[in-house]
Amino acid sequence: MLATAMLGVREVQQQRPGIAARLRQARAGDVRALARVMAAAFQDDPVFTWLIPDDSRRGAALERFFGIELHAVGLAQGSVWTRDDLAGASISTPPGRWKLPWPVLLAHAPGFARVFSARLPKGAALLQLMEWRHVRRPHHYFAYIGVAPTRQGQGIGRALMQPTLHRCDQARLPAYLEASTERSAALYERLGFVLIDELRLGGSPPLRLMLRPPRVTS
Ligand SMILES: CC(C)(COP(=O)(O)OP(=O)(O)OC[C@H]1O[C@@H](n2cnc3c(N)ncnc32)[C@H](O)[C@@H]1OP(=O)(O)O)[C@@H](O)C(=O)NCCC(=O)NCCS
Repeated sequence: MLATAMLGVREVQQQRPGIAARLRQARAGDVRALARVMAAAFQDDPVFTWLIPDDSRRGAALERFFGIELHAVGLAQGSVWTRDDLAGASISTPPGRWKLPWPVLLAHAPGFARVFSARLPKGAALLQLMEWRHVRRPHHYFAYIGVAPTRQGQGIGRALMQPTLHRCDQARLPAYLEASTERSAALYERLGFVLIDELRLGGSPPLRLMLRPPRVTS
């Protein structure tokens, strides 16, 4: 387990061809399908349920939200790792690119307004709090990791994080993320993340702030 987490994509491919042979970077043409997968993955997420409480509109709202995030954060600012069957995605940004630039935020404001509707002020306040508490030293940031509900628990999420974790280890940089459930935090702990703090806005569910020091690869 530990050894696998320390390996790069190529090495993982050699060891676990069934999983990693199908890892690849997403392209613009994948965004629609991946947004649907991410929306399904986060349908029962406690923080998104708090932000979009109406079950009947959460799916479509999340699809719109992840369409924006995949384009504006992943493809424009960092990377989106997926597989050729599009079973999931991990959206991450390299050092200095974690914050959505103001012009991009403004350009997508109408989209975010449609996503969060009356809860837009809560969403904006939570985003601001996340930015205030965001780790300041250089790091790679996992914005979102999601796997299709029917494919969860098969090692796909872990595999989708490996290329970025490998880059962290190579560059001796930490990785940072906010975990919205105890269960996902348990996975991240197994990958070397450590809980550094917890964030909550008013009555929101907690977000666990987690940092993973680089592993020495020599
Ligand atoms: C979290 C997630 C990305 C992990 O991907 P995965 O392919 O299911 O995970 P792996 O098979 O690589 O690893 C299994 C571990 O992932 C975690 N996990 C599995 N299903 C999960 C779920 N529905 N929600 C949260 N964590 C989950 C558990 O820690 C699990 O270990 P366990 O079976 O011993 O409890 C994926 O389950 C998911 O999309 N969950 C819903 C969305 C979410 O919570 N995303 C993370 C927000 S920070």
